[in-house]
Amino acid sequence: MKTIFMPRRQFLTLSAVGGLLLLTGQPKISFAQTRKEEKMPYNAKDYSKLIGMEGFSETLLKNHFTLYQGYVTNTNKLADTLAQMLKEGKTAAPEYAELKRRFGWEFDGMRLHEYYFENLGAKGAIDKSGKLAKKMAGAFGSYEEWEKDFKGAGTMRGIGWVTLYQDTASGNLFNCWINEHDGGHLVGCNPILILDVFEHAFMIDYGLKRADYITAFFKNIDWKAAEGRLK
Ligand SMILES: [Fe+2]
Repeated sequence: MKTIFMPRRQFLTLSAVGGLLLLTGQPKISFAQTRKEEKMPYNAKDYSKLIGMEGFSETLLKNHFTLYQGYVTNTNKLADTLAQMLKEGKTAAPEYAELKRRFGWEFDGMRLHEYYFENLGAKGAIDKSGKLAKKMAGAFGSYEEWEKDFKGAGTMRGIGWVTLYQDTASGNLFNCWINEHDGGHLVGCNPILILDVFEHAFMIDYGLKRADYITAFFKNIDWKAAEGRLK
């Protein structure tokens, strides 16, 4: 007899569907339909088009992409492990609690990198007559004041991120400091512009000169991408 190997999750899904069909007497379900129920792992996105950006070496960017891919891998691993522990009734275990705490750190590390890479890769200043610049001027007095505040947050001591957030409840804009990946997010706010100020984001090219890195970041902001995130 020929043996068919399949992943445990797929086997469980098929077994469950089979049992249900026996009970309900429903016609056979196709294999394609059962596959839809499987949870697919999240795939890292490709940002290699950013290579060649002014002020960012290829070495720095490639290292940064590899680091981002690590967050994707770990987010998938944690999601799988937590799902398995749930199935096995281990939700009271200290390991489950610690992995639950860790999940936000890995997930936010992954998603923040995506926002960051996706708001880079363009040239030119913000359109001062555009929707985003007008909102910045409304919130901070002028675009220049907004920029001063954003850069001020970016040069704070510590590792983390600066986010320009839009509060989806009020429409207001805030520049926020995110400690590491998960500390300081504003609930219900939408990220508009993200700046990575972990040392790996600039030390290869700038050493300790974080302000010079932020100047280079500003030269490459994709303002249309940022504006497109406004609600
Ligand atoms: Fe980073």
